[in-house]
Amino acid sequence: MSLTEIIRRFPSDVIFGVATSSYQIEGTAQGGCGASHWDSFARQPEAITDSSDGSVACDHYNHYAEDLDLVADGGFDAYRFSFSWPRLLPQSDKEVNADGLAFYDRLLDAMLERSLQPFATLYHWDLPQRHANNGGWQNRDVTGWFADYTDLVIRHFGDRLASVAPINEPWCVSFLSHYWGHHAPGLCDLAATARSMHHVQLAHGRSIEVMRGHGQQNLGCVLNKEFAVPVDGSELAEKKTYLFDGIYNRWFEESTFRGCYPEEVLALFGQHMPDGYENDLGLISAPLDWAGCNYYTRSVIAPDASEPHLGFRCIRGDLPKTDMGWEIDPEGLAFFLRRMARYYAPGLPLYVTENGMANADNLNAAGEVHDPERVAYFESHLAALAALVDEDVPLKGYFAWSLLDNYEWAFGYSKRFGIVHVDYASMVRTPKQSWHAWRAALKAR
Ligand code: FCB
Repeated sequence: MSLTEIIRRFPSDVIFGVATSSYQIEGTAQGGCGASHWDSFARQPEAITDSSDGSVACDHYNHYAEDLDLVADGGFDAYRFSFSWPRLLPQSDKEVNADGLAFYDRLLDAMLERSLQPFATLYHWDLPQRHANNGGWQNRDVTGWFADYTDLVIRHFGDRLASVAPINEPWCVSFLSHYWGHHAPGLCDLAATARSMHHVQLAHGRSIEVMRGHGQQNLGCVLNKEFAVPVDGSELAEKKTYLFDGIYNRWFEESTFRGCYPEEVLALFGQHMPDGYENDLGLISAPLDWAGCNYYTRSVIAPDASEPHLGFRCIRGDLPKTDMGWEIDPEGLAFFLRRMARYYAPGLPLYVTENGMANADNLNAAGEVHDPERVAYFESHLAALAALVDEDVPLKGYFAWSLLDNYEWAFGYSKRFGIVHVDYASMVRTPKQSWHAWRAALKAR
């Protein structure tokens, strides 16, 4: 079935959008943006495949109007973006950068002029360097810093936001960055991991509390999920797969929706859990208006006694893979939405807040980009979601990652996730075949 036919199967109140994030597209060299821990992480030898950083990125700071034209012309209803904490508060928590405020004023007004619903994320990984210097996500004080920053954003921009989520992908903020060291600050430390995994959740809770205090509507969370399968039928592989699901998925689902942490993960963290963490779980699990799921791939879990704490490694199986080497498994996405709807948050509106693939895209001689692989990826994942409509899963929206090719974190500019191609030398944007497929499907609704 084509994208057009699949999109027609969704009820008319389901919205479609595209997603981006500040550090990945804006260009931090513009407009008085302050330093973040991604700038310093990017300077560490071998942290980033192509040794690049986000100082220029897609120069969205100057190209935002053209970029939003592409969202609107593509027929999308909504745009998911993030505010940059160091752009708004570059030097201290008190001195607001007037150019930063003015940039997001322009950006939001441009969305509203184009009838695009602004779906905001307050934190998509650009932690101000001064907070990183003070322990970052390991320091409980980060939850207060984040609450104050939330207050600033909501006071200034709240009336123009259709929806807000405090933190993008808390698993990446904590585990990926403090245990596997793949993202800033690049640590491999179990104690730092335990602390950050609790503080990121508490920061979410405090941010929601601040926003409720302002009467802000439509508050949610954006959790990334990865489906896991055991490498073989052994009891050990089953047990380690359950642990992976606990660390990656259930830690965040259980605490956000049921006010507890999974026992097997608490056992792993042991004495490293911050004192009195139990007392924070009420705030962490305060009711939300919607839940978001970012989904890309699955992992195969292989027991490995040489891994000191987890006792397993994640490997890839034999499904077709994207340019990231990530396996394509649409049924995993459906699994998580069913689990949310049936178990964690019955009745709560659900959104797919990111889904998409990297592909080795090139401009051809005619100046076009053919990415049938990406069109097929969207089709297969949306078909899996369309099947849920008949199961009473309250899916209310879907956001493709990403509008533009952009700075893909530790992979720099070497991986292209956009439905629009970016030539980083000229900054010329070229809509890919996938953008045209979306446009045709959305116009045909
Ligand atoms: C997600 C991130 C997003 C992008 C995609 C590919 O984990 O939220 O910024 O990097 O992966």
